Amino acid sequence: MNNKQLISTIWNFDTAEDSSYLTHGIYRWYGKLVPQLVAKTLDQYVESGDTIIANFSGSGTIALESMIRNINCIGTDINPLAILISKVKTKPIYIKDIDDYLERIISGAKKEEMKCDISHLYQPDKWYNGNDAKKLVALKNEIDEITDEDIKNYLLVALANITRDCSNIDSRCVNHIVVDKNKKTKNVYDSFITSALSIYNSIQELNNHKSTSKINFIKQSADDMSYAENESIDLVFSHPPYLNAINYYNIYRLSTDLLELDYDEIRSEDFSAKKLNIFLDFMEKTFRESYRVLKKGKRCIVVIGDTRFHGNLITLGVDFINLLKKVGFEIEDIHIWEQNRKAGMNVARRGNYIDHNYVIVAKKEE
Ligand SMILES: C[S@@+](CC[C@H](N)C(=O)[O-])C[C@H]1O[C@@H](n2cnc3c(N)ncnc32)[C@H](O)[C@@H]1O
Repeated sequence: MNNKQLISTIWNFDTAEDSSYLTHGIYRWYGKLVPQLVAKTLDQYVESGDTIIANFSGSGTIALESMIRNINCIGTDINPLAILISKVKTKPIYIKDIDDYLERIISGAKKEEMKCDISHLYQPDKWYNGNDAKKLVALKNEIDEITDEDIKNYLLVALANITRDCSNIDSRCVNHIVVDKNKKTKNVYDSFITSALSIYNSIQELNNHKSTSKINFIKQSADDMSYAENESIDLVFSHPPYLNAINYYNIYRLSTDLLELDYDEIRSEDFSAKKLNIFLDFMEKTFRESYRVLKKGKRCIVVIGDTRFHGNLITLGVDFINLLKKVGFEIEDIHIWEQNRKAGMNVARRGNYIDHNYVIVAKKEE
């Protein structure tokens, strides 16, 4: 690491050739970080053998980039779907005769589909056509029979992946889910095969990246790092929700219900749609915890964008800088991450697009 190295203030990755290399593209997790941004940050601020925390880990972008650099990473998120995706993203698996394997799952599901109980799904008549809800549950039941945990996880992600295409949900939703009356939904079994094969092919690429790093995921709130000792961590990389921009517990509701994950628990622990003062209190606690676990001279990197409410900006960037200073950090750098309007994280708010994010580099003194 070379702290004297000049790094540009404006970061723009829109022209980056491919953001879905390795397993980065296996699941559309809204607000996912661009891997090139994570790569640049890790290359600048940590070294192989270091241990970092990604405390709003989401779909595991930071963990995967750490893994290929032999950096140890603890990823935490309160959403068990995020944890599941992250585990699959960082776990090489191999299945002999994958096509036959998947065909056996499909034929098992077809035999059982009409007997399936769908009462645990959220308003199945509203969201699914014909017998599609039963087919999805039949696939879930087949996957539940698998004893190998890694293969089971991989197939659950493949299944969660198709709830959008196979339901009436409007694909443009990032907040509250609504029905798209004109939508042509896709065939459940064909979509499952396509999803499973595509993820499988991505996972095979991981085999080229033998890693010595330890990667762990914990379902835990970002403000609780009780798993880490004082002054034991080389970097905390935080990418919190942009308050009311993406409502995580809502947007993945169909997938979490299908996978029988606890929606009410996710909803109560998720800070993506809380009131501003509650969110800021939570972030202060989170930064205080980050300060505690970081070694002296090490950094907390926070990626955040401003948001908009009733026409005015909610200046989360400024609020976060003040909170970081309040808990003891020095602000070493601020980079602006520019995005174009098509980028997933740009949210139109009453006709306004917000296309800047801050990469705040906060340092614990030596
Ligand atoms: C902007 S996303 C992070 C995306 C991630 N960087 C990626 O590349 O996939 C914010 C994440 O915060 C998570 N989250 C919400 N409330 C949380 C909490 N109390 N503790 C930890 N994570 C939380 C959401 O589930 C979501 O995955």
